[in-house]
Amino acid sequence: MAETVAIAEGFDAALTQLRAGQAVAVPTETVYGLAADATDGDAVLRIFEAKGRPRFNPLIAHVASLAMARRIAGFDPLSLRLAERFWPGPLTLVLPLTQPSAIHPLVTAGLDTVAVRMPRGIVRDLAEALGRPLAAPSANSSGRISATTAEAVADDLGARIPLIVNGGPTPVGLESTIVKVEGSRLLLLRPGGVDAAEIEAAAGQALERPRPKHVQAPGMLASHYAPAAAVRLNVEAVRPGEALLAFGPRRAQGAAAAAAIVNLSQAGDLHEAARNLFAALQALDRTGTATIAVEPVPAHGLGEAINDRLARAAAPRDLPPGAT
Ligand code: TXA
Ligand code: MG
Repeated sequence: MAETVAIAEGFDAALTQLRAGQAVAVPTETVYGLAADATDGDAVLRIFEAKGRPRFNPLIAHVASLAMARRIAGFDPLSLRLAERFWPGPLTLVLPLTQPSAIHPLVTAGLDTVAVRMPRGIVRDLAEALGRPLAAPSANSSGRISATTAEAVADDLGARIPLIVNGGPTPVGLESTIVKVEGSRLLLLRPGGVDAAEIEAAAGQALERPRPKHVQAPGMLASHYAPAAAVRLNVEAVRPGEALLAFGPRRAQGAAAAAAIVNLSQAGDLHEAARNLFAALQALDRTGTATIAVEPVPAHGLGEAINDRLARAAAPRDLPPGAT
């Protein structure tokens, strides 16, 4: 069973485990990550095993500095501008992998690109102290909702990892925005913690939203944030027995009879809603309800990423929960 330690003592404990080739759960500003030395194949394998993650799904390499990023990836001028503007922070850039690379091929699933992010806080400090990038997916079983608290990590992965560093609830609450520059095009591979409009403003060009028929990033499998309950979106009227995921000050019809209600943000604030999203889905799921009804959430700003995660939570289950 994982030992949970507070962030003050957590740094040394995590560094010791990372040096020993273990995978440890640590908070980033977005969600908790399950981190391991990205140059150590056995350590990276522990991540895939603990999560039950398919090996074809590549991981993000977390770096301490732009210099560390440049040792593993090639930067075009636009990617460099975005890194300088948004790092450290919730932006991941998909870049050409430097060849030969110290990054273990399990991290990139054998692709010739690597997803790179400089996070804020302890993960960045650990990469700095280790002197190497940290591979870290979200700290949840594959196909499940990302963990935004140490308790959620413990419930899900506690039996399979040695250490959880508890930094409290993560401030952003949604995973990083993933962007890729392709020639003159700027592609949004995953909406996330940086508002797409801010990226467009910094880039001076529009983000394209590819709708790949085949899976471009396996994390984009439709059903990827699956609670056990069915999820019904854009609900105007709650049906008997449903639990309600609410947003804003006005309630859907029939809300008074809902089996349970959690409001993402009473004030209708999208940052607050992003922070609360995964814990709210988990809390409603724990009530044992058959269906979670979700009130409409506006699509602008962080609402794009919130609606993306909700759509995945509602998608037909193409994967048995936890099976991949
Ligand atoms: O906020 C975050 O991004 C969190 C924290 C821990 O950093 N990490 C995270 O990792 O969400 P993960 O593994 O749950 O999601 C990373 C996504 C996956 O969908 C993966 O397929 C995609 O990034 N990805 C990784 N490398 C890629 C690559 N070379 N090209 C395209 N997509 C890639
Ligand atoms: Mg994930």
